[in-house]
Amino acid sequence: MLICANKSHLFPRVISIAISSQKGGVGKTTLSINLAHAFARAGLNTLLVDADPQGSVGLSLTRQSRLLSGFYDFLADPGIPMERLIVPTRLETFSLVAAGQASDYEAGNGSSGSHLARVRAFLRNASARRYDVCLIDTAAGLFGVTNDTIASADALIIPQQAEPLGIRSVPKLLEGLNRLRIINPHLNVLGVCLTMLQKNLAESTEADFSLRQLLPPEMLFTTSIPRDDIFIRASAKGLPVGVMDGGEGAEAVFDSLRAEIQGKLEKSQQRTAFNAH
Ligand SMILES: Nc1ncnc2c1ncn2[C@@H]1O[C@H](COP(=O)(O)OP(=O)(O)O)[C@@H](O)[C@H]1O
Ligand SMILES: [Mg+2]
Repeated sequence: MLICANKSHLFPRVISIAISSQKGGVGKTTLSINLAHAFARAGLNTLLVDADPQGSVGLSLTRQSRLLSGFYDFLADPGIPMERLIVPTRLETFSLVAAGQASDYEAGNGSSGSHLARVRAFLRNASARRYDVCLIDTAAGLFGVTNDTIASADALIIPQQAEPLGIRSVPKLLEGLNRLRIINPHLNVLGVCLTMLQKNLAESTEADFSLRQLLPPEMLFTTSIPRDDIFIRASAKGLPVGVMDGGEGAEAVFDSLRAEIQGKLEKSQQRTAFNAH
């Protein structure tokens, strides 16, 4: 069993999952916050890292987060101890690392590869703190720090907005993934997750259909995130939907996505164990 309800450590080290896409505004941050909350509610020690310099993961902490050091400060100075970066939340199993203050470390700054060692050092530090899962919300595009994050992570989730124009970017994304797989052959591409799906809008369901034609089934999550105003209200506050009034339905969607991810990780673990024998 990969993930147990009782508090236990599942892996010898943290499982890091990058949430990335070619395009902005597709729901990466929304997915990251809510998925991290779902993992934490399931009893996993979860760290959510904001690796987007324009990120809003720490929005709910706004006043405090202005003073906080974060991920980009660590990239600028890896001597910063993790305790200074980690922000606890009301949920014991859920902690955050804000993007931080280091303004000269924009996500696209520097060529791909220039931050690799430091991103890896950050993940090693997280591992030493005995997190089970580390979700990393990245900036859009597959370059700079985002490239180095995916090149260092164990797994990748690609949110994709369920609209026809968005789907057109998928072949380019697959090309980019092939490049990243060369840098990180162990990268477990968990798949594309459709976001903002509108079941009552033909263009949206057609986009869903075309994507399912375009990609092999294992590359697409069965769970899609519906378009719902509650996400806009929650993201204005930088909160998971589950803590909002009327957010239970949306919370259930993320529980189902979490279960799918667990299943996929479990399968790949079995494959690795099999290959090792
Ligand atoms: N499922 C959803 N339903 C409705 N609005 C959404 C949904 N997911 C995201 N949004 C809204 O879309 C905008 C972009 O989402 P965000 O998660 O910030 O995307 P990204 O991180 O990819 O730029 C935000 O205003 C957010 O509230
Ligand atoms: Mg974002």
